[in-house]
Amino acid sequence: MTESRRSFLKATALTTAGAALSVAFDAAASAADDKLAAASRLTDAEGQYALPPLPYEYKALEPVIDEATVRLHHDVHHKAYVDGANAALKRLAAARADGDFALVKHWSRELSFHGSGHVLHTLYWTSLTPTPGGEPKGELREAIAADFGDLARLKAHLIKATVAVEASGWGVLAYNALDRRLTVLQAEKHQDLTVWGAIPLLVIDVWEHAYYLKYQSKRADYVVAVWDILDWTAAGRRFEAAR
Ligand SMILES: [Fe+2]
Repeated sequence: MTESRRSFLKATALTTAGAALSVAFDAAASAADDKLAAASRLTDAEGQYALPPLPYEYKALEPVIDEATVRLHHDVHHKAYVDGANAALKRLAAARADGDFALVKHWSRELSFHGSGHVLHTLYWTSLTPTPGGEPKGELREAIAADFGDLARLKAHLIKATVAVEASGWGVLAYNALDRRLTVLQAEKHQDLTVWGAIPLLVIDVWEHAYYLKYQSKRADYVVAVWDILDWTAAGRRFEAAR
């Protein structure tokens, strides 16, 4: 492991609400990787949660996802989760300082919701790409074959599970570090229905704010379209780091 990869791993490791996420990219590999690395950072130099830049232009995902949706989704919705997570951390620090834990349940829940929202949105932007490179490769491809049979079965499973999320949530392809298996999960809201040990590799947002401007109530059309712009290279890097 190179020094830059080691320091990047350290800088981007996060544990929130019981879910561990470790994102690693070799920042020296290429300009594209630099952009991906910047887009994957959850915190700033002071350790505060921060809104990472998109790794592409607002309009880059058209026609699958329109510019107005991406702009609102990133600048307003994602930003709100960053602010909410920082506020929760601040209030929990104040509770420790004051020894007053009367609202610890409330702020713990706020941290879980907003912190998970920040993590998942950061993963979402880097799960999508305007230049999809085709199918998964290397060890991720082998693991998909071992755990799902083949890519077509993963596709059917992930799309069906994502479309079927109750109310607002996510479809998630995860690697479980405890039993060393790839799995498809649904997340309700941002933080519910995970499995301990699951590390998200690739996520699809099915909150209405992710698709309603263009697709209205046709969530399935959005999910099927998004499949074609998934970034399997980024998912492969996260898989490599998770293992
Ligand atoms: Fe969202």
